[in-house]
Amino acid sequence: MTRKIWVFDTTLRDGEQVPGAKLNLYEKVEVAKQLKKLQVDIIEAGFPASSTGDFNAVMEVAKQVGNTSDIMITALARAVKQDIDAVYNSVKYANNPMIHIVLGTSDIHVEKKFNKSKDQILQIGVDAVKYAKTLTNEVQYSTEDASRSDFEYLWSTIEAVMKAGATMINVPDTVGYAEPQEFGEMIYKLNDRMKNLNDKVLLSVHCHNDLGMATANTLAAVKNGADKVECTINGIGERAGNAALEEVVMAMITRDKVYGAQTNINAKEIMNTSRLVSSFMGLDVQVNKAITGDNAFAHSSGIHQDGLLKSRDAYEIISPTAVGLDDMELVLTARSGRHAVKNALEKLNLDLTAEQFEGVFENFLTLADAKKEVYNHDLYVLVEDYFKKHNM
Ligand code: KIV
Ligand code: ZN
Repeated sequence: MTRKIWVFDTTLRDGEQVPGAKLNLYEKVEVAKQLKKLQVDIIEAGFPASSTGDFNAVMEVAKQVGNTSDIMITALARAVKQDIDAVYNSVKYANNPMIHIVLGTSDIHVEKKFNKSKDQILQIGVDAVKYAKTLTNEVQYSTEDASRSDFEYLWSTIEAVMKAGATMINVPDTVGYAEPQEFGEMIYKLNDRMKNLNDKVLLSVHCHNDLGMATANTLAAVKNGADKVECTINGIGERAGNAALEEVVMAMITRDKVYGAQTNINAKEIMNTSRLVSSFMGLDVQVNKAITGDNAFAHSSGIHQDGLLKSRDAYEIISPTAVGLDDMELVLTARSGRHAVKNALEKLNLDLTAEQFEGVFENFLTLADAKKEVYNHDLYVLVEDYFKKHNM
């Protein structure tokens, strides 16, 4: 049976923590509108206690995008009354508002960052949840640095905040330290205990990419029972970023038998969303980035181009149209063979005899050696030159 996985998008909070990526109010609302088209379940719109500008932007997202029942709007609070009030007062305009509270559970956070005892921190978390529940029903509790926490203390915290009324428990790999097998096992154990206590509470994960494993860890968690994934578009976020929404979602679609789980994401909006975020935030997408990089659906080797023209599945596991692109791109280079060049000429309605084609192809190779990539306008010139030289 296919399980539903909730998608919580934090592009506007964790993603916006990237230096230089700050958005103004208009841009935040536009990105949120696009995230709604993408059909994410929850938008984390910001950290309202951080500034008046952020408070106002979160409020506008709640009003303009959170005005329907199919989406939940949240924002981040530390486990203090002032932050929780700021979140509530900005998200309360949404049909489905949610308060997201974060507090560390690792010894490093408890002892070094807060200089408190474990019991004190646990009590602060419980009090914060109880206070948030007086304002709204949906409350998420994030056990920051969960993957480096003592497991039994992590569990005592989760158990206590669940009893205090938390409706979602988020387990972050805050510094991208986890490894898929180990993270999956942790999620399996937590899921087992959580479901015994209250099977309505969602188990969520939030993975960072410091060791390049954010997507793998998120998917390992899905395999082991996680109900919800926290992601960003293009994987942007603090330091090396967060799990990329497009990678997590497309892995579940492409390898459906492995994960047995699906999201509600409208994958055809992936490229539009990626481009909007990249342009508003001024953050280029790495060309070879999975799914949204410029080269993700471009093929340059002659062997691959020939194979693709015979059968797309030879080198294509996802159709480019599935993520909202027009088609795959066959990049014409000196490594392209006759098959790809002939195909490109035919697409331009340039019908040549075998002899004419051989002449054009010879000149194509010379040009490709000189300028690396050959474009459609170059092909027109090559054909025109050939005809002129042969008085045609
Ligand atoms: O990385 C992290 O731990 C976070 C929390 C606020 C969920 O961003
Ligand atoms: Zn984070």
